[in-house]
Amino acid sequence: MTNAIRFGVLGTGRITRRLVAELQQSLGVKVTAIASRDPARARWFADQFGIPNAMDGYQALLESNLVDAVYIALPPSLHARWAIGAAACGKHVLCEKPLTTTYDLAVELDQACQSSGVQWLDATGWLHHPRTARMLEIVSGGTLGCIKHVSASVSFFEPFQSGDHRLDAALGGGVLLDLGWYAFGLAAWTAGCAPDSVFADCVHHRGIVNRVSAVCRFKNDVSATISCGYDTATRKWMEIAGEDASIICDDFTRPWQDRPARFWIHDRTGAVVSEQFEGNQEKNLIAAFRSAIVGESDLTAHRTLALQTQRTLSMATGPSGGDAASRA
Ligand SMILES: NC(=O)c1ccc[n+]([C@@H]2O[C@H](COP(=O)([O-])OP(=O)(O)OC[C@H]3O[C@@H](n4cnc5c(N)ncnc54)[C@H](OP(=O)(O)O)[C@@H]3O)[C@@H](O)[C@H]2O)c1
Repeated sequence: MTNAIRFGVLGTGRITRRLVAELQQSLGVKVTAIASRDPARARWFADQFGIPNAMDGYQALLESNLVDAVYIALPPSLHARWAIGAAACGKHVLCEKPLTTTYDLAVELDQACQSSGVQWLDATGWLHHPRTARMLEIVSGGTLGCIKHVSASVSFFEPFQSGDHRLDAALGGGVLLDLGWYAFGLAAWTAGCAPDSVFADCVHHRGIVNRVSAVCRFKNDVSATISCGYDTATRKWMEIAGEDASIICDDFTRPWQDRPARFWIHDRTGAVVSEQFEGNQEKNLIAAFRSAIVGESDLTAHRTLALQTQRTLSMATGPSGGDAASRA
């Protein structure tokens, strides 16, 4: 039996609470340390969550021999720096989405981890839900016919708390990198590649991209339309349309609370078939990461998709941080 993988956590924000709880309930891993810019906050968080070690600053955690892997739950602009720093210290990297703020940084992160011989994975939960595996089977198995179009709409209405990093472009804020990670990621996941072209129309408000509408074209004659915003009610839906049928899901990023995860297949006659699933996407994500660390599985497909997603987002980001019509 392999020893438990010891996780250290960078940052004490909102998502940290959720993932620390999932890590602590997962088999074969434990959380041994947490670091904050503020040592008192690290101590408070450690006490609240029963984490044995509180560290003063992120570098101290990277250099600690108490952890094998780090979970990076910082604002996006800090992901690349601390992931590359973690790799240099021989630590495996589980990094929150978006992986980084640019495609070039994502490639740098990937190369740094490869040179150090450590694993990395982006914490994109929906990819690890059993429903997603079944959708992939349907999409690639021919049930829908030849796939032609993907549409995804992801939004939350004014989801901010005071001092929210999502309102600060310098920290990688804005809806394009935040919710766009899911929507553009779904398009790349379906097409199996980054697009050849992206046209993105971004509406700016308060110095960040507040709404984005985009059209992507992929080399295999797949197209995608994307809508993300901080100014419409919660949406997390998608459709993948083939020549014979479509698959539709109204909560692909995370199942609605108190409802089973499900999707519907609508065919050309109007017939509808629904499937339902159980499972915890975060626990599966942690299990996949652990399994790669102990050499039992391979994360290449996930990493390739993360890089394709980052590339797509960079194509959608013009020189002013939005409004792009780009051709690779
Ligand atoms: N997978 C998901 O479902 C999901 C959901 C929400 C968010 N996320 C992602 O998780 C990451 C963190 O999001 P969050 O909502 O947890 O953020 P948050 O609440 O703002 O927390 C971020 C943490 O980063 C640290 N930090 C370091 N430098 C900072 C700076 N200059 N400004 C603000 N915070 C700074 C802070 O911890 P210390 O000061 O204690 O060091 C802070 O608590 C983002 O990349 C976000 O996109 C993922």
